[in-house]
Amino acid sequence: MRGMNTPTSSHCPLHAEPPSPPPPSLHAPGIWPPGPQAGLTGWHLLRQMSRDLLGTLADWQQTYGDVVHLRIRPEHTVVVTDPHLVRELLVTHHDALVRWERGTRVFAQLHGHSVLTVEGDAWRHKRHALQPSFNPKAVGAFVPGIVRATGLALVDWPAHAAHWPVESALTSLTMDVIVQLMFSDQLGEDARLVQNAVRAVSEAANTDFYWPASSPDWVPWKRARREALRVLRDLIDRHLQARLRMPDDAWANDLLSRLLCLHRENPQTWPLQAVRDECMTTFLAGHETAAATLTWWAWCMASNPVAQAAARDEVNCVLRGGTPTPETRPALRYVAQTIEETMRLYPAAPVLISRRALRPITLGAWQFPARTMFMLPVQLMHLDPRWFPDPASFQPSRFADDAPQAPRGAYMPFGTGPRVCLGQHLAMAEMTVIAAMVLQRFSLSVPDGMPDPRQLLNVTLRPEQPLHLAVAPVASASV
Ligand code: HEM
Repeated sequence: MRGMNTPTSSHCPLHAEPPSPPPPSLHAPGIWPPGPQAGLTGWHLLRQMSRDLLGTLADWQQTYGDVVHLRIRPEHTVVVTDPHLVRELLVTHHDALVRWERGTRVFAQLHGHSVLTVEGDAWRHKRHALQPSFNPKAVGAFVPGIVRATGLALVDWPAHAAHWPVESALTSLTMDVIVQLMFSDQLGEDARLVQNAVRAVSEAANTDFYWPASSPDWVPWKRARREALRVLRDLIDRHLQARLRMPDDAWANDLLSRLLCLHRENPQTWPLQAVRDECMTTFLAGHETAAATLTWWAWCMASNPVAQAAARDEVNCVLRGGTPTPETRPALRYVAQTIEETMRLYPAAPVLISRRALRPITLGAWQFPARTMFMLPVQLMHLDPRWFPDPASFQPSRFADDAPQAPRGAYMPFGTGPRVCLGQHLAMAEMTVIAAMVLQRFSLSVPDGMPDPRQLLNVTLRPEQPLHLAVAPVASASV
């Protein structure tokens, strides 16, 4: 993530922090930060949040400041929007935190015991084993696969359309890309079935988040979810079994082969089920967030024609009509900035999966007891005029190498600390390549009379209505 003007996730999260401000005088344990009246149970606060999570959190930040206490029985939840304290929590206190148990349980129903859902030593081991496949150097090797899948998908886009369903087109494109990177294959006839399955499991997960406990899987109203999971598991298992039947020297150099190598080296720690679980996480985490971000990027390009033209000029200048390569991709700096700025305005995960304190934590002036829940709404920091002047405007140059620096922690679309997104470099490479190839071929514009899309949080942040844009061929397209 070179060139991000607030070097949050670009720094090795395991390294020591620069000197912090002098410690503030501490409040006594048991004194909570200010927050809205809870009443008897505080459950009305939950209702308020479920109606409009980000709007409600923004109001409380305005009224009570950057550390807000919510007493929602039986929990004490603390909402933190101070960049320095958010980093302190996720980096310095990483070992004292686990992800919100309920969220993890819901995810585990889909992902099993993958790096996304496990904690402690099990997580450390998986993360350490997987990291080499996702570091910037390894990611360069994925560029040809991304180019191949994108080229094939863009052939199906119409030359002219007044209302092209760009969100659904980009969602199936990112799915094609992840299938290419994982299995060196295409979805082909399964595409529609798999897309429907992903939609069904995401909707079920989103509903489950708001219930205190999940009903068992066999209840009749979960049939659609069961069916959808079966489709996704079959997809993974089919590729896994086919690969195992091949001689080793015929294995493609893709993510599945890397996972199966871990299995071959250490079948006790990496049984085939662990390989399947990682495939599911890579598949779901790897395309849904990128699809959401590219959808917002397409909107930002369509509604900011000057930035779109500048990005296309860069693409033409760097690629000269050719396709991106591992060598040329890093030179697409302005295109990357348009994506970084998109993620500032529309982070795919606008509130990081909440964290639970396993032991007492001192954060700034506050001393929190074990079991405190922390909620980290990154989108509020991204839209804070203290860190990003004129925060609502789309200005990719904020992320130029020579732009003024926002404080560390004020920008974190991929999270930060040891649990920062495993796929952040892959995601940036993928989105930059796709963006460049779209810009080479198509001009994007807002259909006449279309209002700005409203945001809806549905696991990832998406437009409330499926996004449609006008597309037209680019005069100079030579690809
Ligand atoms: C625009 C694209 C993406 C965004 C915005 C994004 C964002 C995030 C965020 C916010 C987290 C949680 C961080 C936390 O809780 O502190 C996360 C975790 C994760 N992401 Fe991504 N992600 C993206 C793409 C990807 C891709 C392409 C992959 C893999 C192919 C991936 C794999 C993961 C995994 C495995 C984790 C869990 C890491 C752990 O717990 O150690 N993500 N991502």
